Amino acid sequence: MDVPCVRVEPAAGEATRTQLAESDLIDDSYEISVDSGWLYIPVTEPSAVSPELTVVDYQPPERSQQTTPADILGFSPSYERIGAVALLEEADADRAAEIARAIVESDLPLETVLNQASKVKGEKRVREWEVLAGSGTETVHREYGCSFALDLADVYFSPRLATERHRVATQVEAGEQAFDMFAGVGPFVIPFAKRGATCVGCDINDRAIAYLRENARRNDVEAQVTAICDDVRAVVDGTSAAGGPYIDWADRIVMNLPHSAEEFLETAVALAGDRAMIHYYDIQHEDDPFGPGERAIREAVTARDDRYTVTVENRRRVRSYAPHELNVCLDVRLERSP
Ligand SMILES: C[S@@+](CC[C@H](N)C(=O)[O-])C[C@H]1O[C@@H](n2cnc3c(N)ncnc32)[C@H](O)[C@@H]1O
Repeated sequence: MDVPCVRVEPAAGEATRTQLAESDLIDDSYEISVDSGWLYIPVTEPSAVSPELTVVDYQPPERSQQTTPADILGFSPSYERIGAVALLEEADADRAAEIARAIVESDLPLETVLNQASKVKGEKRVREWEVLAGSGTETVHREYGCSFALDLADVYFSPRLATERHRVATQVEAGEQAFDMFAGVGPFVIPFAKRGATCVGCDINDRAIAYLRENARRNDVEAQVTAICDDVRAVVDGTSAAGGPYIDWADRIVMNLPHSAEEFLETAVALAGDRAMIHYYDIQHEDDPFGPGERAIREAVTARDDRYTVTVENRRRVRSYAPHELNVCLDVRLERSP
């Protein structure tokens, strides 16, 4: 069976193994193997591995002494991982309890099991969880070499967006001014700052902003990150006591509030500098996933400042959201003529 493995030269093996172990990323269900001059270290979350390391698919031998949830249950349960927390989406309470017991009894480094108890809801986009095993909803999640402390009971976070966030982060250049209008605990802001950007992250959720500040410290980018708790509209236009204004400030803007980002487009245009990239996330029907967002952006730009030229540089299907509905991203360049 193919398993994601970090492939390194044997000389770098011990340092790499230690680095991965410190991040709890080694998949102990498989052996570390040497093959054709390379060392293969199996990893649990390839998306959390530092981008400097190479992850490949390889077939290492299984470790016989490891017990997985599937060994205990006799079937492979479906769950997501955020740090040391396993997240279930299981409607049957008995089955959920059985899976939770197996996860905790297995040799996986998972301490807490939560089951979805509501949809993501409200302005803060937080979900309710039923705690099936373990005590807390707080954990530390690792993604592409960054670590994020967060409490799932208080903030929004989705590991499913890791690849998308990495795609955007790799576009960031040192010295840029980047503004995340709906920053959460910082999964865009922190990697942007690590690449040398000066960042502002804004969120209406004070718990998310507290974690964003903590995560800036954890990842050694505190000096480059300003975290502001308020409605982003007030922060940008300068009517917030928490910070701002940020008119004409940004080279890059992230708008990840898919159901209502359109309402904030006027603010995004006010925030944009002479040459700015907007990453606009939307959820739309599969028949026309990009049209509504594109039209809304063009309208907002014309209304606020028609000196901008608008170019859609990328139309990307991020993931399926619901039957016939897609979560998409538009990368839109605004360039203002003098
Ligand atoms: C979908 S979450 C995205 C968080 C983060 N960017 C991520 O990818 O994990 C949207 C965030 O926007 C915040 N939010 C909602 N309305 C807001 C507003 N008017 N001003 C600032 N933040 C807002 C919510 O509290 C929530 O944390």
